[in-house]
Amino acid sequence: MKVGVLGSGSVGQVLANGFIRHGHQVMIGTNTPSKRELLKEKTHGKALVGSFTEAAAFGDVLVLAAKGTAAEAAVKAAGIANFSGKTVIDTTNPIAELPPVNGVLRYFTTLEDSLMERLQRLAPNAHFVKAFCSAGNAFMVDPDFGGVQPTMFICGNDEGAKKTVAGILDQFGWETADMGKVEAARAIEPLAMLWCIPGFLANDWMHAFKMLKK
Ligand SMILES: NC(=O)c1ccc[n+]([C@@H]2O[C@H](COP(=O)([O-])OP(=O)(O)OC[C@H]3O[C@@H](n4cnc5c(N)ncnc54)[C@H](OP(=O)(O)O)[C@@H]3O)[C@@H](O)[C@H]2O)c1
Repeated sequence: MKVGVLGSGSVGQVLANGFIRHGHQVMIGTNTPSKRELLKEKTHGKALVGSFTEAAAFGDVLVLAAKGTAAEAAVKAAGIANFSGKTVIDTTNPIAELPPVNGVLRYFTTLEDSLMERLQRLAPNAHFVKAFCSAGNAFMVDPDFGGVQPTMFICGNDEGAKKTVAGILDQFGWETADMGKVEAARAIEPLAMLWCIPGFLANDWMHAFKMLKK
């Protein structure tokens, strides 16, 4: 697949390298030209590097890995038309510019709304699929939990796009749990709050969620 990664932070870099390792073509986008050389280095010269717009135009599948407060601005900067009809893996979390309270992150959304719903309203023809938002970037690709596959909770309105993302997750070593339509992001995004608590309280970031079934 041709994958356009919009985001130059840890998540963008890890997922760009993961897609390359699993045989895909990648363009990683940044809106900060001075970061381009660093991104070439971080992707070992194997990814194309461009602007958000260029990466969004390049990919048949897109990954949105922008800061939560800037996610809507990033989609606008990339060009809403470039999202039309495409599967968009939304890794973002609506983390507010406020410090955590006793290790609990603060969000700028409520339980009646989610960041992915806002993004879906902004780009109605895009097929957003929430994924990777409640996983640490160290475990996003080929996670090793001693033979136990962790669970990635996903959601989105387009069944075909979710099938594409489930295929990617399978390739990356995750079990997929499909939680339904875009509104399920109201429940999935806060999993990142839960995931981060042991990190903030005890500097323990080495875990992932697993759904047990009978
Ligand atoms: N870090 C993790 O382990 C982790 C895990 C799960 C989910 N997430 C979520 O994944 C997303 C990316 O996280 P991250 O830690 O990789 O990096 P980040 O620092 O949250 O985001 C970096 C990206 O946001 C862009 N950005 C910042 N301000 C912007 C603005 N005003 N307009 C447009 N773009 C702007 C940057 O653009 P430039 O390239 O131009 O600098 C950069 O590409 C976040 O939403 C985060 O909550 C993170």
